[in-house]
Amino acid sequence: MDPIELRLLPDTALIEPAGELSIGGCLVSSLAAQFGTPLFIYDEQHIRNRCREAAESFGAGNVVYATKAFLCTEMAKLVHEEGLMLDVATGGELFVALSAGVPANRCVLHGNNKSADELHYAIREGVHHIVVDSFDELERLEHVAGFHGAQVNVQLRITPGVHAHTHEFVSTGQDDSKFGFNMGNGDAMQAVETVRRSSRLNLIGLHFHIGSNVLDIEHLGKAIDVMVSFFAPLGLSDLTVGGGLGVAYVASEHAPTMEQWGTVVRRATASLPKDVVVRVEPGRAIVASSAMTVYTVGTQKDIPGVRSYVAVDGGMSDNPRPMMYGSGYEAFMPTLPSALRPRNVRVVGKHCESGDIVIEEAQVPAELEVGSLLATPVTGAYGYSMASNYNMVTKPAVVFVKDGQARVVRRRETYEDLLTLNPN
Ligand code: LLP
Repeated sequence: MDPIELRLLPDTALIEPAGELSIGGCLVSSLAAQFGTPLFIYDEQHIRNRCREAAESFGAGNVVYATKAFLCTEMAKLVHEEGLMLDVATGGELFVALSAGVPANRCVLHGNNKSADELHYAIREGVHHIVVDSFDELERLEHVAGFHGAQVNVQLRITPGVHAHTHEFVSTGQDDSKFGFNMGNGDAMQAVETVRRSSRLNLIGLHFHIGSNVLDIEHLGKAIDVMVSFFAPLGLSDLTVGGGLGVAYVASEHAPTMEQWGTVVRRATASLPKDVVVRVEPGRAIVASSAMTVYTVGTQKDIPGVRSYVAVDGGMSDNPRPMMYGSGYEAFMPTLPSALRPRNVRVVGKHCESGDIVIEEAQVPAELEVGSLLATPVTGAYGYSMASNYNMVTKPAVVFVKDGQARVVRRRETYEDLLTLNPN
């Protein structure tokens, strides 16, 4: 029933005297008119603020932005400008980062199944280090490094056997995981010994990441404790404790700040020698709340005694998270951001699936009608980056706003784009 809470909106979100919402000094309704809907609006200042908070808490060089959360060349440039490193999990992510002018030695290569081509690419370009995930990869990397006559810095991804208390699909630290070398069964120690025997691979440290969207940072702290006891006797110089800091998506949620996360990480690693580099890899916490998606309402359907549906011009193709993880979002009208939201509706997309749900149970203003703009905040992470062309729906435009200026960082796809992969 309450209006949307401003704390869920990007840092520069402002209710203008005339009552409409602006972000980065730009009226949301004007952006929608200029660039069309669905539209991803990113608040550049918000992203910079989170990068700076992370840099303050951990030291800029120790923060590695997880590009999977949201990446395009402008985003890569921005985080690089802020002094962060970039975590790339595929050759494609590395390619986009390098295309943005980010030096390879500011990139870290991840991935549980890197191809030989990806390893060749990363070594040729000179990434800072490679996080090795499996014995098969160790063998492959040894071979590729030999081909280049290169010495390669590696971290080993360790699975510490700790549950992240988040959705099963984004939980990665437990024993039953496709990621990393299990600590409990001796694989982790065996991997350390294997790398130490190699003349090509230089073991700089260990890495772990127990899961994503974790709201209880004490839990992350406990996982670090487990890792520290394994790491300390090895005398290595570099420990990456992953990403995973959660964000509030809906009014009932509250997330720890970057600073609070910093305190937990510092406390858990305090016993390590001072010259050990402790890195973090936030994705969501940098970028999720910096953006909102603006849709246009196309149809409404009331089924008395059953439910009301509101259909928007996007859906699972621009935000698969509700479908994949049952994730909740809020909805509001950017033209009436202070309006009460007494109507309970299901917000759905335009795809040919009943599961194409944007918000299962949304509270929206009574004024919402066909043609209204409807916005969902906190869509900056894992929205556009997981977008698809299902039903040949074209991907939305993405704009960065700052100081009254909007710039397109990803143009809206056109129907012609749907033919670009045809062989002739
Ligand atoms: N480091 C590694 C090795 C990761 O695998 C991930 C995320 C991160 C860092 C960044 O995690 P974050 O700080 O964003 O939680 N698509 C899912 C999230 C998948 C996360 C995958 N790995 C979602 O939409 O919730």
